[in-house]
Amino acid sequence: MFASRNGFVHICTWVFLCLRLSGADDYVLDDNVGLGRRFDGIGGLSGGGATTRLLVNYAEPYRSQILDYLFKPNFGASLDIIKVEIGGDAQTTDGTEPSHMHNENDENYFRGYEWWLMKEAKKRNPNITLVALPWAFPGWVGHGTNWPYDYPDITAYYVVSWIIGAKQYHDLDIDYIGIWNERKFNSNYIKLLRYTLDKSGLEKVKIVANDNLWQPISTSVLLDQELSKAVEVLGAHYPGTTTVMEALLTGKPLWASEDYSTFNDDIGGGCWARILNQNYVNGKITATISWNLIASYYEDLSFGRDGLMTAEEPWSGNYVVESPIWITAHTTQFTDPGWTYLQTVGHLVQGGSYVALTDGQGNLTIVIETMSHNHSQCIRPPLPAFNVSAQTARFQLKGSFGSLTSLQVWHSKFDFSTQNSTFFKKLAPTQLVDGSFTLDLDVDEVYTLTTITTGQKGVYPPPPPTAPFPKVYKDDFKVRNPPFTEAPNFADQTGVFEYFINLTDPGPHVFTLRQVVTQRPVTWASDADQTISVIGDHSWQNLTVTCDIFIETVKTGGVFIAARVDQGGEAVRNAKGVFFWVFADGTYKVTNDIAKKSVLAEGLSGTQAGVWHTLSLTVKGDFASGMLNGYPLWKSAVVLQPKKGWAAIGTSTFELAQFDNFEIQAE
Ligand SMILES: *[C@@H]1O[C@H](CO)[C@@H](O)[C@H](O)[C@H]1NC(C)=O
Ligand SMILES: *[C@@H]1O[C@H](CO)[C@@H](O)[C@H](O)[C@H]1NC(C)=O
Ligand SMILES: *[C@@H]1O[C@H](CO)[C@@H](O)[C@H](O)[C@H]1NC(C)=O
Ligand SMILES: *[C@@H]1O[C@H](CO)[C@@H](O)[C@H](O)[C@H]1NC(C)=O
Ligand SMILES: *[C@@H]1O[C@H](CO)[C@@H](O)[C@H](O)[C@H]1NC(C)=O
Ligand SMILES: *[C@@H]1O[C@H](CO)[C@@H](O)[C@H](O)[C@H]1NC(C)=O
Ligand SMILES: *[C@@H]1O[C@H](CO)[C@@H](O)[C@H](O)[C@H]1NC(C)=O
Repeated sequence: MFASRNGFVHICTWVFLCLRLSGADDYVLDDNVGLGRRFDGIGGLSGGGATTRLLVNYAEPYRSQILDYLFKPNFGASLDIIKVEIGGDAQTTDGTEPSHMHNENDENYFRGYEWWLMKEAKKRNPNITLVALPWAFPGWVGHGTNWPYDYPDITAYYVVSWIIGAKQYHDLDIDYIGIWNERKFNSNYIKLLRYTLDKSGLEKVKIVANDNLWQPISTSVLLDQELSKAVEVLGAHYPGTTTVMEALLTGKPLWASEDYSTFNDDIGGGCWARILNQNYVNGKITATISWNLIASYYEDLSFGRDGLMTAEEPWSGNYVVESPIWITAHTTQFTDPGWTYLQTVGHLVQGGSYVALTDGQGNLTIVIETMSHNHSQCIRPPLPAFNVSAQTARFQLKGSFGSLTSLQVWHSKFDFSTQNSTFFKKLAPTQLVDGSFTLDLDVDEVYTLTTITTGQKGVYPPPPPTAPFPKVYKDDFKVRNPPFTEAPNFADQTGVFEYFINLTDPGPHVFTLRQVVTQRPVTWASDADQTISVIGDHSWQNLTVTCDIFIETVKTGGVFIAARVDQGGEAVRNAKGVFFWVFADGTYKVTNDIAKKSVLAEGLSGTQAGVWHTLSLTVKGDFASGMLNGYPLWKSAVVLQPKKGWAAIGTSTFELAQFDNFEIQAE
């Protein structure tokens, strides 16, 4: 007792002296007082929805370079976790992702790009953790209701089939599975999912619940032992670095299973730096997953550029390694999932925070951030006021680390006044004196001090310069894009447009693009009642869109081509533009909106199902005109709004229809 009390006094005196002499604030890093929680990693989320859509169409070597910046160990972000959407044929923020079961008799584990992305991630880092989560479900899963829990056995079967398919067709072991993104959970469904996983030999697949808020799931887990046994991890979204008492009481790992969602300029990087540290310091959160992994969707869709880096121009090859990549590296390159936080983590006296982690074998990684309030605001939740100022911090290492004599140093400095930021720069190692080191910290900095010597700032030659979407664009859907089912640059906003081969067609339309969703899905967003895929440049004003179309639904079917489509994403129901429709009943319409409420022209067309027709739409200034099979059908429709937008194709309802020889000529 006395000895320790003396020790305490001694330290106090020594700290006091130290403060007096150097003006430094003191921090002790010590594993003798016990360790904190297991670190589970930092990750990125592809999907929720269609956020990686454009990446797949990058030419090599750019595509591989981008993947290296994300996943390659000791190169860039070196991500520990990749989370993907289980496509549900529905709009989930920036587009739809295809389901592995469009209907109950359908099974296909080669649709979309998430399989490919997970394999590319695994190729680079075999240890990367795989997490999957549904946002939406095909209509049959809900039996026509907009709810997946009325038939929980079907939903569990549908989700577990995806996990089995991942293994069977791609040799991917899914580590964690979620419930229903940002929607209510159902305890019986969670237990049934656990049961179905176990029955299928997937005991190792763990459940994250429930990708919404900390509550009410935490209380449910506390009160229901069987539910508690089924749930491995509590995952909350945008927790603002905090948690709740009930979540802590469960004793479960706590994850920010979706976080960030902030424009990826340097304030986005500052947001990321602050939450990566403070999620643990304030909330005991041990994994943080960025929505989204990479901004690889048209920037004019919802939440443009809210990814760790930007790759939104497959036509030019241009991409941008944004600051969040290097901020991630500050932690990921010097830790691994399975490391443990020290209990001695916290806030710095003059603002900012520090964490320390160990592998339990003598390695130590310390990450320090001093992000100021205005330079670290995330999109949500609101950030309470705090002050950060320049300060001197003295760290005293104890326990296993007391005898360390030097640490590697990596440094980032955000510079918002001259835009002269420095990211992830290796500085000279710091020599420790009696296990201690002192740092002069400025505002808006990130430091890593570590025993790990393998850090590396990966670099490739600059990619090609940025360029607008080509003004002349053609796709006859013959040149396929293996292993993908979607045609380049088309961004489905309701429905799913897939490559199709009609082997019985003796004519020129063997290879087409087909809309395949025939029933309204169990939605996550407000999908339109029509299907639509947009393409091109959102700033286009004057252009001609031409496309061969094939209505498959007799009598009630219909398709459109469009220009100046002003919005997609979660707002797709309200999309305006110039929509040229033809129907199987022999009529046409020109509307100013996808909902067909505002009619600009209409009449007879003689169009029918089961026959190919060629549509052409020209919009110039305030006027639009349309041709059918090479002959003018209507002209001089007055179009005052919108002034600009994407080109698009789509169908009148959830119905099968095909498209071929798509062509754009923009001015
Ligand atoms: C994967 O994890 C194992 C065990 O922790 C480790 O030995 C190996 O180096 C890791 N591989 C990579 C590429 O990080
Ligand atoms: C740290 O980790 C490395 C492997 O990265 C290992 O070789 C070494 O023994 C560990 N311990 C220390 C104290 O560096
Ligand atoms: C932070 O931003 C607010 C609102 O724009 C502004 O009033 C305030 O002066 C800024 N604070 C600092 C320290 O720049
Ligand atoms: C930040 O500093 C300003 C100026 O000293 C002070 O007025 C304000 O109360 C401080 N805010 C907080 C949250 O400490
Ligand atoms: C930018 O930063 C570098 C290194 O931090 C420094 O040498 C250089 O003078 C700075 N340039 C400007 C324009 O501030
Ligand atoms: C395939 O082509 C044949 C011959 O043109 C046509 O009759 C049939 O409707 C087509 N099938 C589909 C699904 O497009
Ligand atoms: C589109 O055409 C109108 C009418 O000819 C013209 O006034 C306008 O400048 C054109 N816009 C662009 C971007 O070329």
